[in-house]
Amino acid sequence: MDMKALVLSGGKGTRLRPFTHSLAKQLVPVANKPVLVHCLETIRDIGVREVGIIVGDNADEIEKVIGGNSAIAADMHITYIKQDQPLGLAHCVLIAEEFLADDDFVMYLGDNVLGDGIGEAARRFRQTRPDAHLLAAKVSDPRQYGVVEVDHDGIVRALVEKPEKPRSDLAVMGVYFFTPAIHRAVRSIRPSGRGELEITDAIQHLVSSGAKVTAEAYPGYWKDTGSIDDLIECNRVLLDRCAGDVRGQVDERSELRGPVIVEEGATVSGSDLVGPLVIGAGSVVTDSRVGPYTAVERDCVITGSAVENSILLEGARVLGVAGVRDSVVGRWAHVRSAGGQERNRVLIGDHASVEVAA
Ligand code: G1P
Repeated sequence: MDMKALVLSGGKGTRLRPFTHSLAKQLVPVANKPVLVHCLETIRDIGVREVGIIVGDNADEIEKVIGGNSAIAADMHITYIKQDQPLGLAHCVLIAEEFLADDDFVMYLGDNVLGDGIGEAARRFRQTRPDAHLLAAKVSDPRQYGVVEVDHDGIVRALVEKPEKPRSDLAVMGVYFFTPAIHRAVRSIRPSGRGELEITDAIQHLVSSGAKVTAEAYPGYWKDTGSIDDLIECNRVLLDRCAGDVRGQVDERSELRGPVIVEEGATVSGSDLVGPLVIGAGSVVTDSRVGPYTAVERDCVITGSAVENSILLEGARVLGVAGVRDSVVGRWAHVRSAGGQERNRVLIGDHASVEVAA
């Protein structure tokens, strides 16, 4: 039996509020696909079919979206594993022990996007089969991450979770390859200062007990989609990797430049579309300029507006507003012009953020 995958999708995502009030953070879309779907596609690309997904309070929502994604549902066999309390990443391995059994596995944090896949790392792990194999990337502030010290030959010497005084600038990324040796390690550690069983501590336990732990630098694009700005950046980078594909209706008054995706069932008239961008199924764009770097999910309406470097979630509307930039518009939210009146009227929900031309 080849590897399995364990995808961690239980977290709440307070830094992505207000969107995560009503949507699990792993389901927030970038380039018109939930972050979790990007994760599953990356796993599918290394040939892994047997996937366990750790879910928390968001279980129903996640199961509905993933179950409704016919491509993923057809290619992968998914088992949902409920975590009743967020007790840490190593706790997730603990509760998945029965699912994982004696197989090697890749553990993938459901809010991490690795834009260039994990093919090379998977190949190296399968070939050399250390007890753990990590991906690492240089970061400007290592204190927010697990930090790893690695020899020039790729052997891991030490790891610390979110150290105040980091001994390297290499962050541990949210993708880990393990043999079953990790099970004993997660049973041997105690909760950290933040009250969680840290996977970093479990891997350090492997290192201390003489197991072979290796790491490689990830050369591609990586983002832990923690904040709204991260989402906008990630959207931009992933759109840049998409090829144009026009299936919806575009009238002859519209002009398309660059890689533009117009999904089946979308309607575009009298508009300039500047790729990279995607217009989702059922969306209607009229007399507007959209893009570059804009993802419009399904059933949105954009009329007489200009939208750039932004994400519109399902059902969002932008009506008569020029200069919407660097923005995220939530599901079924409306942004509209006050029709020449000198006033701004805002009806916005908890933790929302609006910038107006004052
Ligand atoms: C987790 C891990 C940390 C790792 C990071 C990568 O942190 O604990 O070691 O560097 O993911 O995204 P968290 O996002 O849970 O704070």
